[in-house]
Amino acid sequence: MNLASLWCLDPSVIYLNHGSFGACPSAVLEAQASLRMEMEREPVDFLVTVLPSRLDGAREALAAFLGAAPEDLVFMPNATAGVNAVLRSLILGPGDELLLTNHTYAACRKTVDHVASRTGARVVVAQLPFPCRDDEEIVSSVIECVSPRTRLALLDHVTSPTALVLPIARLVNELLTRGVDTLVDGAHAAGMGDGGYSMRGYPLLPAFYMLCLLGVAARVFTLEPRLAVAGIVILATGWPLYRLGHRLFGGAPGP
Ligand SMILES: Cc1ncc(COP(=O)(O)O)c(C=O)c1O
Repeated sequence: MNLASLWCLDPSVIYLNHGSFGACPSAVLEAQASLRMEMEREPVDFLVTVLPSRLDGAREALAAFLGAAPEDLVFMPNATAGVNAVLRSLILGPGDELLLTNHTYAACRKTVDHVASRTGARVVVAQLPFPCRDDEEIVSSVIECVSPRTRLALLDHVTSPTALVLPIARLVNELLTRGVDTLVDGAHAAGMGDGGYSMRGYPLLPAFYMLCLLGVAARVFTLEPRLAVAGIVILATGWPLYRLGHRLFGGAPGP
């Protein structure tokens, strides 16, 4: 089967950059257009009555795919919004440290810098070896940057500039034993590998996924005591929505 024919991509172009600006398969675009038409026919009924149960259904299907509990998943506009939701909700003070790596995605690095500049927190950048010989090198380069003031580590599961797959489960556990929460930027990670991507066994893992333009924030709730406003990006009509799983979905969806 010619998989490329499932996309609307120009056949004269060999399109490889599904990371930065991924295209959607035609079937996804058609489903999206039909949903939009359904909404436009009766916006109030769609947004108030139909949408919540559709979101619940989508969350259940996605949870089964990711190996997560549906109530741990929240839809976000994209991975960057999810990372912003957590970072900009952290309660930080001068001298607190935010740990990331020199391979962190640029937009997320900018968010860390912004949050640090507003709170007086310090940004600590672990230098990942590249090329690297084994997981050990990666783990020790991150762990040696942990201090008693480290409040959160932001780690990419798959690094954008270098395509390294970090040993994320091990890193999350190692950091947790040192009392450090990890925010995993999981863009690209869902669906990779033979066994898919399972969230089971991750003790404390806010994560974000990107599946043909799908953004999901997961398990942010475990961090809630340390967040000021539980990760709201846009506070709008939909707030407050008390049902678990809707709490980051503060605004009415755009067209
Ligand atoms: C590691 C990583 N994080 C975040 C993003 C941003 O994704 P989005 O544009 O969906 O926010 C990318 C995009 O390439 C990425 O590679």
